[in-house]
Amino acid sequence: MSELTLVQITDTHLRADGEKVFDQVDTHAALTGVLDQLKSSGRRIDALVLSGDLADNGSPEAYRRLRALLEPAAAELGAQLIYVMGNHDERGAFGVELLDLEPGAADRSTPHDQVTEVDGLRIVVLDSTTPDMADGRLEVDQLAWLRTQLSTPAPRGTVLVLHHPPLPSAIAAAQVLKLQDPDALADALAGTDVRMILCGHNHMTAASSLAGIPVWVGPALAYRLDAMAPAGRQRAITGFGYSRIDVLSSTVIATAVEATPAAELYNRAEAEVLEHLAAVVGEAG
Ligand SMILES: [Fe+2]
Ligand SMILES: [Fe+2]
Repeated sequence: MSELTLVQITDTHLRADGEKVFDQVDTHAALTGVLDQLKSSGRRIDALVLSGDLADNGSPEAYRRLRALLEPAAAELGAQLIYVMGNHDERGAFGVELLDLEPGAADRSTPHDQVTEVDGLRIVVLDSTTPDMADGRLEVDQLAWLRTQLSTPAPRGTVLVLHHPPLPSAIAAAQVLKLQDPDALADALAGTDVRMILCGHNHMTAASSLAGIPVWVGPALAYRLDAMAPAGRQRAITGFGYSRIDVLSSTVIATAVEATPAAELYNRAEAEVLEHLAAVVGEAG
């Protein structure tokens, strides 16, 4: 089987037209730039995974703006689109505007869990939110549903996506807002074919593990928290990125893509670089 590439875009925090996050950050422009980069890359991208906090304040207009950007881009890329709830999202508007649920069918008490298959790779989405709460939680029914989904292996294994990292965090605020009872999730995942867990929420890029499974906390699209702020301070700073997830038969690789505009140092033909490296390696050998 050929290899797959997913792109994880997390914490887009889109707002209504004319509104900026912290009155400064134009998240619509940031997402437009990222999608333009993906389209012009000419690379195969099998799925776009939007891992929560898609809207900054759950407004229907923000979801409509998000969808208007993502759907044409996904169609052009030939990529599946996977939407995941975050604590800034609102289950009703999310369900109606992104998942095409009938108004009224999007009951706030029902999590938007889902399972999708991308060319043999199973992607399981857990809605780790609780209405009107910012920390993460998985209900007993969700864990039972997860166990059922994972009871048979998928051809390429499984990637699990949930907004809240099931981990302690390096900074106090993220620690307060983390997923509660990660051990219950670890129990449900032990011995399954889950190969990587993708999260967002912290606005800091980080890696760890749960039940021996790698956990990747992707860089946020909207803004970053300073993971090495002076003691006793919490700082949010501009800058954004997303993640490239390469699913190989042997392993899964998560790579942060820094997307904040930056000056180019060089831009060479890859074939020439490889030719040069082959010569260097040959000399070294
Ligand atoms: Fe966020
Ligand atoms: Fe969040």
